[in-house]
Amino acid sequence: MTDDLLALKAETDAALAAATDLRAWDAVRIAVLGRNGSLTGLLKDLGKTAPEARRARGAALNELKDALNGAIEARRLALEGVALEVRLAQERMDVTLPPRLAPAGLIHPISRTMEEMAAIFGAMGFAIAEGPDIEDDWRNFGALNIPAHHPARQDMDTFYVPGVDADGRQRVLRTHTSPVQVRTMLNQEPPLRVIVPGRTYRADHDATHSPMFHQVEGLVIDRAITLGHLKGCLIDFLRAFFGITSLPVRFRSSYFPFTEPSMEVDIGWNRKTGELGGGGDWLEILGSGMVHPKVLANCGIDPREWQGFAFGMGIERVTMLKHGIADLRPFYESDIRWLRHYGFNPLAPAMLHEGV
Ligand code: PHE
Repeated sequence: MTDDLLALKAETDAALAAATDLRAWDAVRIAVLGRNGSLTGLLKDLGKTAPEARRARGAALNELKDALNGAIEARRLALEGVALEVRLAQERMDVTLPPRLAPAGLIHPISRTMEEMAAIFGAMGFAIAEGPDIEDDWRNFGALNIPAHHPARQDMDTFYVPGVDADGRQRVLRTHTSPVQVRTMLNQEPPLRVIVPGRTYRADHDATHSPMFHQVEGLVIDRAITLGHLKGCLIDFLRAFFGITSLPVRFRSSYFPFTEPSMEVDIGWNRKTGELGGGGDWLEILGSGMVHPKVLANCGIDPREWQGFAFGMGIERVTMLKHGIADLRPFYESDIRWLRHYGFNPLAPAMLHEGV
């Protein structure tokens, strides 16, 4: 290469070395290889060279062009490498850091019990029925064979809602889920098999009573339903719900205006330890009976053709027994510490409570 070409090579090398970022590098590239670049100028001038010298000059220019292209490309790779290092250093992340946990909701024990009941009774062929919290006194009492001056009306400490409904009936907050039996029988043709989970209300408030609480009602109506079916159904349910296959279950004669005969159902437990199953003591857990013929007739079902059984129980009560919860009041206080302790992880059913 001639001196002028060597000088251009040296000058370009120096400019490339001085370019410390890609923007400066690009300016050098354009100054050399661009349309008005120094190398481009020299190549254009080749035509003016005397013919006898042109060959050698052309070869030298090609050699210079390869050298410059090589140097420019090498510098680009070097600068890109540096830029990458800088970014990697800046954007460093620590993959060993623990993840930020999204707050996960828990299932309230009452909801959990309702879900479990729906699953157990669902497997026995029961559908779920629901009704309104504000009822009329006919559906809550009258149709269920509890006439106006029946003591059961006082027993239930009813909340009356001011005013009457369109049929002139006194409105009440339902004192039990039994009015949904009435609704179901009026609206559907037998055979029927429903459970009714829902809120109920009584003017009562202490450690074991809340003015609002939950019940689940059951109703089975068919042509040949007997007390034996009632007993088998409830024994199976109680053993499945409490997870104790040998749970003792006792049926004790009782009275409800809407069933005849009526039975209260007790389960075996140990009064001293609170443990369910053995122990020789009995704990009342639910009310049940064969649906009273008058109730069937009140709801448009012919008692000579159809019969069935019904039962009702408190959801809080069975939940407290199942999970060893001593006090009723925290169920409704939304205390996050209580909910964390007694709530159920929706993604890992039944595991959280066991402390896994
Ligand atoms: N409704 C009754 C109560 O609240 C429970 C019950 C329901 C009893 C159905 C028998 C049959 O006490």
